[in-house]
Amino acid sequence: MTNVAETLHSVLDPAGAHAQQIVSLWDLTIWICAAMYFLVVAFTVGLLLKRRAPSGPSDRALKQGLIVWTLAVVAGLAVLGVASVRTDGALAAPFGDAPLHLRVTGHQWWWDVEYIGGGDLPGVRTANEIRLPIDTPVRISLASSDVIHSFWVPSLHGKRDLIPDRPSEIRLEPRRIGVFRGQCAEFCGLQHALMGLTVIVSSRAAFDAWYERQAAPAREPTSAHARAGRQAFMDAGCATCHTIAGTAASGRVAPDLTHIASRRTLGAGTLPNLRGQLSAWIADPQHIKPGNRMPAIDLDAPSLQAIVAYLESLQ
Ligand code: CUA
Repeated sequence: MTNVAETLHSVLDPAGAHAQQIVSLWDLTIWICAAMYFLVVAFTVGLLLKRRAPSGPSDRALKQGLIVWTLAVVAGLAVLGVASVRTDGALAAPFGDAPLHLRVTGHQWWWDVEYIGGGDLPGVRTANEIRLPIDTPVRISLASSDVIHSFWVPSLHGKRDLIPDRPSEIRLEPRRIGVFRGQCAEFCGLQHALMGLTVIVSSRAAFDAWYERQAAPAREPTSAHARAGRQAFMDAGCATCHTIAGTAASGRVAPDLTHIASRRTLGAGTLPNLRGQLSAWIADPQHIKPGNRMPAIDLDAPSLQAIVAYLESLQ
């Protein structure tokens, strides 16, 4: 899973405005707790040394120590309490207009990603991968089609649950170009662990170029092999569940495949999107991700190869 592993995520390596606020709170917590710890150790050592002295620690010294210690604990907790409330408030700040609006819907076990157009901007639908321009606030409306999932891209923000019939929102503001891994963070069934997500943050120009390609319908296959693959795709019933814009395939219950070849992974971060893995996935998805909703379809080898050639042409 080479290109899956490279998309690392770390809460402590923030690449977004919100993740930075969370890390600042984390740092403050660590420093205050460390200071408390060293105070306890220093106090204990001090008392042990005093105990060895012939007179022992006086009642007065004990009392003063206790007062100082209590004040330090109260002050430390107060600082942490205020900082925590402030961070919470900043993360939940009311959403103004964001230049980019997405709708992400959780399914067992993949992510449906829609860029909501408007005005001159066409809508775009993809799956398990989100591309964002750097330094641009983006509003993501979250929904679930079945059970509770949780949207979590640790490098960009904290977790936000997707609850059936209860719309929620999260706002991201990426500050660094890179590839960041996301993961469903709420146990949602058999393949919860294989419900991954890739977020690719790029320059505005690269994002715009990508968006334009994604908004276009699927390419017309240029080879006879790929054309045969398109026919086999329709004949085998794949179109009942999947959409390929510009063709008769318009199923909505499974990932949109219009530009599947442009994506990095298959099966929501389960496999890298390479020819061998794509063939294996279509041939027997239940072997790779048991319990997932994609049935194994009885295909002869030439049809399978043709379908793979067709899907690989969908850049
Ligand atoms: Cu979806 Cu866990």
